[in-house]
Amino acid sequence: MEKIAFFDTKPYDKESFDRFNTNYKIQYFEDKLTARTAALAKGCRAVCAFVNDTIDAPVIDSLLDNGVEVLAMRCAGYNNIDLRYAEGKLPIFRVPAYSPYAVAEHAMALLLLLNRKVHKSYIRTRDFNFSINGLTGFDLHGKTAGVIGTGKIGQVFIDICLGFGMTVVAYDPYPNEKFAADRGITYVGKEELFSRSDIISLHCPLTKDTRYIINEESLQLMKKTVTIINTSRGQLIDSEALLKALREKRIGAAGLDVYEEETDIFYEDKSGEIINDDILSLLVSMPNVIITSHQAFLTEEALSAIAQVTLKNLDDFFAADTDPAKLPNAVHYGM
Ligand code: NAI
Repeated sequence: MEKIAFFDTKPYDKESFDRFNTNYKIQYFEDKLTARTAALAKGCRAVCAFVNDTIDAPVIDSLLDNGVEVLAMRCAGYNNIDLRYAEGKLPIFRVPAYSPYAVAEHAMALLLLLNRKVHKSYIRTRDFNFSINGLTGFDLHGKTAGVIGTGKIGQVFIDICLGFGMTVVAYDPYPNEKFAADRGITYVGKEELFSRSDIISLHCPLTKDTRYIINEESLQLMKKTVTIINTSRGQLIDSEALLKALREKRIGAAGLDVYEEETDIFYEDKSGEIINDDILSLLVSMPNVIITSHQAFLTEEALSAIAQVTLKNLDDFFAADTDPAKLPNAVHYGM
């Protein structure tokens, strides 16, 4: 049986992979994949990694030195991989789509929590405080949602917004005109989206073009009441600029499932420690900010799909007699 070294393991990963695995011996490691831990993969032909693992040149070299032949990412994004360095050395696979509903529904959950201040009322009523002073929200019906990135998740989020009776404007360098025509939504330029939207939700990948797409300049264009939702990647937002705008009351609220410096913090219980990240601490302390720990993907359906597709990617790799880069779900430089 081929062995898989599985990094950054959480109980829910083990449960779903053990449920669907029949062909592999999986060695689960709680450690993240880094240059320090890569040697744990010795004796395994495959490595399985996740969003906050580091897959840079030293890690790729170490994996190859230790006999690893393939990297199976159990996620859609791959911005944490040095693809240019891996090209031609280490075949990489990913799970391009597992449940766009999981992520889009979480984005709407953040929006509803913030808008109707449910995070506040939950705490109040647990303390038998039934006052509703200060909990006034606004109707989503009739408001304008600006959606950046109209791929799989963006489209589901748009449908949810339309269900709430919202108007949708979208920005995507590769617009899906048929989807827009079917739904009666409009593609606009970035600046127009920033200035017209009551809600802005990010559903684009992290690339050199999208890094800090929300920055001091774009924040200046937004309505004072805008709610910004980010369930995509932390570095889409310049968090220092976001914090400044929140402090100066230049924007309304922010719901963040991702954070640019999340790697060593998210997915870990840090409740007994002092967090050495002032921006994160200040964001967490704000009444109009909700932070969740990169959990938008975390539904039963998504976990099952992730495990099944990851294992199938490895089955395809080990069975193939062609170039692995040509197999479905292969990731390569220039994607
Ligand atoms: P997708 O590939 O189906 O869609 C991405 C869309 O973004 C495409 O339409 C693409 O044209 C567009 N895009 C590319 N460059 C852009 C730019 N410069 N500006 C605006 N749009 C641009 O991807 P999918 O499945 O919808 O996922 C979107 C993102 O969600 C992923 O890249 C990932 O970062 C994030 N994600 C987060 C999860 C979480 O648990 N929080 C889970 C899964 C994905």
